[in-house]
Amino acid sequence: MSTQLTRGIILAGGAGTRLHPLTKIVCKQLLPVYDKPMIYYPLSVLMLGGIREVLVISTPKDLPQFRDLFGDGSSLGLRIEYAEQPKPDGIAQAFLIGADFIGDAHVALILGDNLFYGGLEFFRKALALEEGGCVFGYRVRDPERFGVVEFGEDGKVISIEEKPKHPKSRFAVPGLYVYDNTVVARTRALKPSARGELEITDLNRDYLADGKLNVEILSRGIAWLDTGTPESLLEAASYIGTIEKQQGLKIACLEEIAYTRGLIDRAAFERLIEAEPNPANREYLGGLL
Ligand code: G1P
Repeated sequence: MSTQLTRGIILAGGAGTRLHPLTKIVCKQLLPVYDKPMIYYPLSVLMLGGIREVLVISTPKDLPQFRDLFGDGSSLGLRIEYAEQPKPDGIAQAFLIGADFIGDAHVALILGDNLFYGGLEFFRKALALEEGGCVFGYRVRDPERFGVVEFGEDGKVISIEEKPKHPKSRFAVPGLYVYDNTVVARTRALKPSARGELEITDLNRDYLADGKLNVEILSRGIAWLDTGTPESLLEAASYIGTIEKQQGLKIACLEEIAYTRGLIDRAAFERLIEAEPNPANREYLGGLL
């Protein structure tokens, strides 16, 4: 994909049931993680990967709030579009909803509640793949909550199972996926699962069956954080807060990324600083000039 354009999709759907009543009015991906809304973190990952065109998919109820938050993205040097997922019909449905947006590009999908922290070379490497798909494997304590990778004796991936009762490894598949342009046709050919959803795991199996799926194991030096329960949300917030405080640098500060990565020029960055109502943030951003 080095010469290939990759567009990004953030899927911010779901009911956030395990966070109720936090999610009664505000959707999960807009809840705070320390000092910014959750969706800033996945958007920052796409931006740091070099992606400039992003489609945000959410429920008809919540989508207007994301539009209020980011607008057309131009103040951050991005092009952001929006699309509704009327019902929670599965993660892979994002590629049908986003088919026109994807056009003839490759695509990176990130779930709006997935936080990554650490060196993102693994993602940039995946974006450079010429064909096929790339997903990641991350060691976790409770793999049964996720898509799980099974390895053969030679270390090659032989299967991926969605939330298996008896996981065949400890390696979960995080919610960050990179695919070539065949993803739309492959998703069109998928059948809904027993729970009636177009499963991302079935899509990955389709690539795997064709010998076209790369599974990259992420090092333990990368943090992949969960935000699905009140405890994990609190822990993610204190993790981010701890590192920001120690380093004096912000994680997933979109204005900072846009400026330091050259998406916007100095004048546009100065306009963002002027428009920033929080004095502490203004001071932080001003310090980057
Ligand atoms: C989804 C996917 C699962 C993946 C996980 C990552 O699960 O179905 O394969 O491991 O995201 O966050 P969900 O969060 O919908 O339970």
